[in-house]
Amino acid sequence: MSASAGEKLPRHVAVIMDGNGRWAEARGLMRVKGHQAGAQAVRAVITAARRRGIPMLTLFAFSSENWRRPAAEVAALMQLLGRAVQDNAAELNAQGVRVQIAGDKSRLAPRLQQILNDVEALTAPNDALILNIALNYGARPEIIRAVQAVAVKAAAGQIAVQDIDDAVFSSELYVPQDVDLLIRTGGEFRLSNFLLWQCAYAEIYVTDTLWPDFDAEVFDRALAFFAGRERRFGRTSAQLKATL
Ligand code: IPE
Ligand code: IPE
Ligand code: MG
Repeated sequence: MSASAGEKLPRHVAVIMDGNGRWAEARGLMRVKGHQAGAQAVRAVITAARRRGIPMLTLFAFSSENWRRPAAEVAALMQLLGRAVQDNAAELNAQGVRVQIAGDKSRLAPRLQQILNDVEALTAPNDALILNIALNYGARPEIIRAVQAVAVKAAAGQIAVQDIDDAVFSSELYVPQDVDLLIRTGGEFRLSNFLLWQCAYAEIYVTDTLWPDFDAEVFDRALAFFAGRERRFGRTSAQLKATL
């Protein structure tokens, strides 16, 4: 990676890990085989993020809309997620990774909930990399949940309505931190209900690479893309150059 890319690292990278099914279908395999292959790419992106010194990584593993898939695929995904978390928990912990689940765990099988709670507790003291796994996650349900939490506080007189601001609101989200770089594999230019609030000013990198083929090289291309962006946040380019 070039020196200039190193100077402008995103603090929070979010990834829509898409294309497992197409990867499998292109090989004449069952879609589930694509999800299995995708698990390896998850390990690759976590390692790459750690090596590059990214403080926070949020991975979209299962959306609140993915329940609409055939029951057998949903069941296979749930089993795979549980196994992947269990098999990698000790290594993630040894690497200083803190795992947090973003999403509604209550609809998940009790056994899977237990596995997720265990890895969250095990890795809670770590801070080398914060890894948010978005599971049964949808941005709209996340926002509604935050609105409800703030409304409860306002109704109880714990906060005045005029004091509700970005910080108050985002503190009630599963993922309070803004996304700097959003990566989507599989070539689709859409957000699929992922981190709508947090991506307000995210730089968006879409690659045709299918998720099981994702590796450190693709990650570095996304980081180089990010380093080359001028993030204006509403200002003009001339204003930014004047403050350099
Ligand atoms: C992403 O891959 C994994 C999940 C949504 C769980 P897909 O399964 O959506 O793969 P495509 O988009 O059908 O290729
Ligand atoms: C988004 O992928 C969800 C995950 C990657 C977990 P989808 O494959 O579900 O998205 P759509 O349906 O193509 O928008
Ligand atoms: Mg898809």
